[in-house]
Amino acid sequence: MAPPSPFTASSSFQRPCWVEIDESALRSNWRALRQKVAPDVQMLAVVKADGYGLGLLAVSKVAVEEGAAALGVSSVEEGIKLREAGYHIPVLILGSLFPFESFSLLFQYRLTPTVASLAAAEALDQIARERQERLNVHLKIDSGFGRIGVSVSNAPAFIQQVAQKPGLLIEGLYTHFASSDVDEDYTLAQADAFFSVVKSAHAQGIRPRWIHLANSSALLRFPRTHGTMVRPGVAFYGIPPYPGASSVVHLKSVLTWKSRVIFLKTVPAESSISYARTWTAKRPTRVATLAAGYADGLPRLLSNKGGVLLHGRRAPILGRVTMDMTMVDVTDIPECRVGDEAVLLGRQGNEEITAQEIADAAETNAYEILCGIGARVPRRIIHGR
Ligand SMILES: Cc1ncc(COP(=O)(O)O)c(C=O)c1O
Repeated sequence: MAPPSPFTASSSFQRPCWVEIDESALRSNWRALRQKVAPDVQMLAVVKADGYGLGLLAVSKVAVEEGAAALGVSSVEEGIKLREAGYHIPVLILGSLFPFESFSLLFQYRLTPTVASLAAAEALDQIARERQERLNVHLKIDSGFGRIGVSVSNAPAFIQQVAQKPGLLIEGLYTHFASSDVDEDYTLAQADAFFSVVKSAHAQGIRPRWIHLANSSALLRFPRTHGTMVRPGVAFYGIPPYPGASSVVHLKSVLTWKSRVIFLKTVPAESSISYARTWTAKRPTRVATLAAGYADGLPRLLSNKGGVLLHGRRAPILGRVTMDMTMVDVTDIPECRVGDEAVLLGRQGNEEITAQEIADAAETNAYEILCGIGARVPRRIIHGR
C-alpha cells in the first residue's frame, strides 16, 4: 500500500512547528523541588516571561494545583492574564513597576508589586489612601545583584519609612542572587547581607511574612538561603540549574520542540545550501528542509553547528538557519520521508538535544533558548511521554 500523502494526512492546519509541554513532568519536577525544602517553607513558582516560554497558564495551572503559595510574573499584564484566567492566588510582580500609571491596575486586579524605591512606595501609598485600601507589597533589597532594589546600607531606613505608610503592608522582603549556580562565597555573602537587613527589620518590630532569596540553584545548593519562601523557575521547567544539579535532584525534561520535514531532495557534490553559501556538499547529499527557522526561535548561530533528531538519529544542520526553514543532512537516515517528525529540542528514541546543548552552540544560556521560542509556535499540553 502506498504511504499516505503528506499533503492530505494533516490533522491540523497549524504550521508544522510546535512545542509539547509535558504536564506530568512539570508536576514531577515541582514535587522533586518541594522535597528539598522544609515543610514550613513555601514555594513561589516563577512563571514570568510566559512561563519561561512554556506558556504562562499551562505552568501556572500545575504550580497552583501542586500548592504554590504564590506566582511570580514579569509585569502587570501577566498578572492580569492570570486573574482573567480565574487564579486567585497571590501574584508577585518581580519587575520594578513602570510607568507609575499602571499602579491603579494593581488594586483592581489584586496584584502584589515589588517596591524597589521610596518614590514608588510614596506613589503607591497615595493611591491606596485615595482608594481607602491597603496594598500588600514586597520590598526588594539589592544585596549585590545590581539590578533593582534598595542597597543593604539604605535598607533599614527604607523599610522603616515604608512601614509607616498607612496604605501599604510589607508582606515580603526579598533579594536576588547574582551567581548562585557557580559562586558559593558570593552567594552566601549576599545571603548574610540580606539576613542582616531582615534582622534590623525585626529589631524595628517589622516582621514580613515572606522572606525570600532562593532561585533554583540556591534552593538546591544552599538550604540556609530558604528563608520562609523559595522562588524556583528554571528547575521547575526541567533544566538543571547548575552543573552537577542532576546528581542532587531528578528533573524531567518538560519541553519538546518539534517540526516536520516539508521538503526532501538529493543534491550532487559541490552544491551549496542556504544563504551566503556557507556549506557545500562534499558528496551527493540527501537534504531535508524543516519548517522551523530563527523566527521560531531556532538560533541562527546553529548554522552549520547544531543538529536535529530524525528517526532517533542526529541530522546536522546544513548552512545558514533561515527565517522560517532550516536544512539538515539526512544522507545517513535513508528512511526519512516528507512529513516526518524532527525534534529540535528534547528526546527522540535514545538521543536527546538539551536546551543547554543548543545554548552552548548559540553562545547563550538555556533560559534564553526557552524564552526565545517564538510566539507563533503553538504550545501543546501532553500528559507523559
Ligand atoms: C527575581 C527572580 N527570582 C527568581 C528567579 C528564578 O530563577 P531560576 O530560574 O534560576 O530558578 C528569577 C529568574 O530569573 C528572578 O528574576
